Amino acid sequence: MDRFLINGGVPLEGTVQASGSKNSVLALVAASLLTEEEVVLTNVPQVQDVHTMVRILEALGLQASLDSTGTFTLAAGTPTNLEAPYDLVRTMRASFMVLGPLLARCGRARVSLPGGCAIGARPVDQHLKGLKALGAKVELTEGYVEAQADRLRGGQVVFDINTVNGTQNVLMAACLADGTTRIENAAIEPEVQELIEVLTVMGAKISGAGTDCLEVEGVSELGGLNHRVAADRIEVGTLLIAGAITRGDVEVTGTSPQHLASVTEKLRDAGVGLSIDGDRIRVRGSNPLTGVRVKTSPFPGFPTDMQAQMMALLCCAEGSSTVTETIFENRFMHVSELKRLGADITVEGRTAVIRGVESLSGAPVMATDLRASASLVLAALSARGETNLMRVYHIDRGYDRIEEKLRSLGARIKRVKD
Ligand code: EPZ
Repeated sequence: MDRFLINGGVPLEGTVQASGSKNSVLALVAASLLTEEEVVLTNVPQVQDVHTMVRILEALGLQASLDSTGTFTLAAGTPTNLEAPYDLVRTMRASFMVLGPLLARCGRARVSLPGGCAIGARPVDQHLKGLKALGAKVELTEGYVEAQADRLRGGQVVFDINTVNGTQNVLMAACLADGTTRIENAAIEPEVQELIEVLTVMGAKISGAGTDCLEVEGVSELGGLNHRVAADRIEVGTLLIAGAITRGDVEVTGTSPQHLASVTEKLRDAGVGLSIDGDRIRVRGSNPLTGVRVKTSPFPGFPTDMQAQMMALLCCAEGSSTVTETIFENRFMHVSELKRLGADITVEGRTAVIRGVESLSGAPVMATDLRASASLVLAALSARGETNLMRVYHIDRGYDRIEEKLRSLGARIKRVKD
């Protein structure tokens, strides 16, 4: 398993280009199942989760590829196998999003239940509730969801909770249903908006974009697509904190600042010098950092996927901070590892209380999940001495060559292959 050796204390400086959005791509690759025509996606990040999604499409009997330039291509065709296997779905839960498109396009699908993950139980009850509202017959057998519908029919879906992939799964199915579907309490994350934009280009009839109430008029088929994926707002936020935590001067280009306004505002509240110019966001970390209160919530609130990274920054801020995680029930696994680097954090239920320290110090630490790994990289960049971060396969799931990006900004980080 690879590990990172990081020698901290170097202010990062320079400009770096954001990669495409991992979470957006995962939904768009699932959406490509809705058409028999060719689909091309560009600006696709080279991350493990996307490669897993390509393997799932191949398992369905399709010709899919992601080349070294970040271009995903799905050749025109129809799935010959309608089962997404457990050994792939369990490694990347977003693959559960092939259920809606497969069901809508082919009339049935057998997709493994994704199971839990490090950050929580992450049930899929809302996905199934939505598909049943569209007339699907859904059974759970041997750890698989078996769904069947000769033709989905438009219906009324009211989600009990805010679910991003649940909204995307049901929305994709509704596009090919017979009749009109109304989805209430829909998620409004940028990744949902990008999916709506792409489905519309493919010929779907969707109204209510940007709101939590979507109306879909089903069509009989959808056309192909050639789309450039938007920037990864979480990677952008992570790189901005790398600049801030090392007291450096970092500019990230190719961003959509409106997708992470809650993050840039919170960074400003914490004393980070931050300026926005078109698609460029620049941070200067020379001012003293001050403690703030952070509470995660669905968009446009502070994103849960930035919670661990923000906590790393607050470990180095003057005064105390609180971080409250409201989306997932177990998303504080970076806390114990941050404390190994000298952070002063106590967890009370869903809230972590952080007291800033003069400086962190390097130590051996272990990554536990994707965003926790990013948090540890950030903390190590600011810590005195060397940090040995193990199990970086977690970070490779969602960040495209993060060590190369950081090294281009002057970081002393290298990957060691064990
Ligand atoms: C998406 O996951 C993202 N992943 C997550 O990013 C992100 O943290 C999450 O949205 C919240 O923003 C992808 O898009 C691939 P949810 P998703 O359904 O859609 C509960 C990362 O780090 N829930 O919005 O699976 C669930 O347990 C990843 O890039 C149900 O109870 O998240 C959670 O507590 C991590 N029943 C809450 O809702 C359901 O049927 C929000 O989950 C569905 C969800």
